[in-house]
Amino acid sequence: MPFVAKEPRQGRSGRTRLEVSRSASSRQQKTSVANPERSRLYSTFIPAYDAVWPLFVRRRLRRSIQELGICPGSLVLEVGIGTGLSMPAYPQSAQVIGIDLSSEMLCQAKQKIRREGWQHISVQEMNAESLKFADQAFDFVTAFHVVSVVSDPRSMMLEIARVLKPGGKALVINHFRSEIPWVAKVVDRADPLTRHLGWRTNINHEDVFADLPFELRVKSSPLSLFTILQATKKYI
Ligand SMILES: C[S@@+](CC[C@H](N)C(=O)[O-])C[C@H]1O[C@@H](n2cnc3c(N)ncnc32)[C@H](O)[C@@H]1O
Repeated sequence: MPFVAKEPRQGRSGRTRLEVSRSASSRQQKTSVANPERSRLYSTFIPAYDAVWPLFVRRRLRRSIQELGICPGSLVLEVGIGTGLSMPAYPQSAQVIGIDLSSEMLCQAKQKIRREGWQHISVQEMNAESLKFADQAFDFVTAFHVVSVVSDPRSMMLEIARVLKPGGKALVINHFRSEIPWVAKVVDRADPLTRHLGWRTNINHEDVFADLPFELRVKSSPLSLFTILQATKKYI
């Protein structure tokens, strides 16, 4: 699947600065719905999650992280790291901080870190929608299967853009709303159900990335449920 370059969609005013995005409340409301992040999938049912989910996503995560080309000494943030499925893919020459809202998911990640003796990875409880990191602190930010779980995906992307250095890269992998109208319509019907299970199905990546200072490269395939977005932060 090759990457396709895409300009983030502009707001009606044609303004592209991050500050403008902060006032895009109508779009935020559109993507803010009930709370999939409260699903018991991310607390009570973690053993089931950890047994099944890796079978579908592990290889894609590894390949996509490798393609990022993380250089030695880089500082990497992963938002919504969950049980730490992606952790083995990060080079040990980088420093990785993972955050998640669920202490139960993080408990699994911490066990893996201890078991493997990884000195280059640490995790902490934090909300991806209000990160406690300084502006432009990270060289890379990754977010896997989180956009459709957080209560406000726009806030999360604004935070990712804020903490990323200019020229830094964000890697987002997620299930987004299909661009094929009839598939999108059918899947939209499942949204109320999947929200209870722990994720949404009706998010457009254009809405989530609109007005953000990113150069976007998008990889998708009609045969895959997941879209891979590599977003390089522009120098503005
Ligand atoms: C589908 S899981 C994905 C976990 C991991 N990235 C993976 O691919 O296996 C979604 C994760 O997002 C976390 N999450 C949801 N809302 C969040 C928020 N506002 N801030 C941080 N993490 C959040 C959940 O606790 C859960 O661990």
